[in-house]
Amino acid sequence: MSEKLLTPGPVCLHPAARKALAQPQIHHRSPAASELLTSLRENVARVAGTAGETVVVTGSGTAAMVALVTGLFAPGARVWVPLAGKFSERWAEIAASAGLDVVTTEHSWGAAVGSADVPKVPLDGVLLTHSETSTGVLQPVAELAAAVKAANPHALVVADAVTSFLLSELRMDEWGLDALAIGSQKGMMSPPGLGLAVLGESALERLRPAGYYLDLARELGQQRGGQTAYTPAINLVAAAAAVLEEVLHGGLDEHLRQKSERNRRFYEIGAAAGLQPVPQAGAQKSPATAAFYLPEGATAGSLAAAMSSRGWRIAGGQGPLKGRIFRISAMGYLEDDEVERAFTDFESALQEL
Ligand SMILES: Cc1ncc(COP(=O)(O)O)c(C=O)c1O
Repeated sequence: MSEKLLTPGPVCLHPAARKALAQPQIHHRSPAASELLTSLRENVARVAGTAGETVVVTGSGTAAMVALVTGLFAPGARVWVPLAGKFSERWAEIAASAGLDVVTTEHSWGAAVGSADVPKVPLDGVLLTHSETSTGVLQPVAELAAAVKAANPHALVVADAVTSFLLSELRMDEWGLDALAIGSQKGMMSPPGLGLAVLGESALERLRPAGYYLDLARELGQQRGGQTAYTPAINLVAAAAAVLEEVLHGGLDEHLRQKSERNRRFYEIGAAAGLQPVPQAGAQKSPATAAFYLPEGATAGSLAAAMSSRGWRIAGGQGPLKGRIFRISAMGYLEDDEVERAFTDFESALQEL
């Protein structure tokens, strides 16, 4: 039996994505392709809350992260990375591989980072993780951006929004976020394979040519004219563009409310079964995924098997939380009756353990 995905990415595809993927192949230099690319670029910037621009890259979310680090910071630039989960660790690894001077602070997995944690050294930038998918914590990026910029007015604030885009409110310009990294296989309910780098005004001014394939400056020049430097994953652009059109047509606020409500229900069911959430008291829960410590005597495998026998796939933990937690998410496309079934199946799977 094929399993429906309750994983924090990839996710069940939106019908608009499936429909777009079923169309005949179009040529990437055709007017139709330019229109899709432009629509996706504009709508991503709109949802991100910026008057800036989007650059689409072929690759997963990590490709957008790499492109932003190399395009916005020269080797030797000093950036702060607060380590509070797997994806913040990834920022630090990418920055180190690009020759940046990486200043890290350590936070327990499940904790929120606060403005008091900003290091008291001059910084050229900060690499934040808005929704830390490995712990289920939504980090207070607006507060952190304000604190960093108060001490370092020219610092660029770059945030990983891979699992906050289309799941949580984003107001890039208002919150002082200069750039965001996004992937297609999460809130965008499309297949994996696109990375999106969103650049606010300061990031656009400071963008420099760097690297070759993931050179955002070169891509931006092309994409402003509806083109790409190389053959893009145009079928994925078509899928993601179609989903964004649909979501915006139905109303972004209502969309975010529904996703958030689904996540709240998972937490409610887990709490009723006595499970402990991974996000600590005082940390905000990301609407992207619920994350719980495994109940006494259960393994990630036994719960996954109980959910699998009901037709669902869930995810375990990563890094130091591997084998200790599980994650369940309805960020993908599910019909209302499927969502209700996911809740009742989750409840009964927990009872069966
Ligand atoms: C918060 C976050 N950042 C980055 C990534 C990496 O994205 P990808 O696997 O698309 O490269 C993920 C994927 O799970 C993620 O959840």
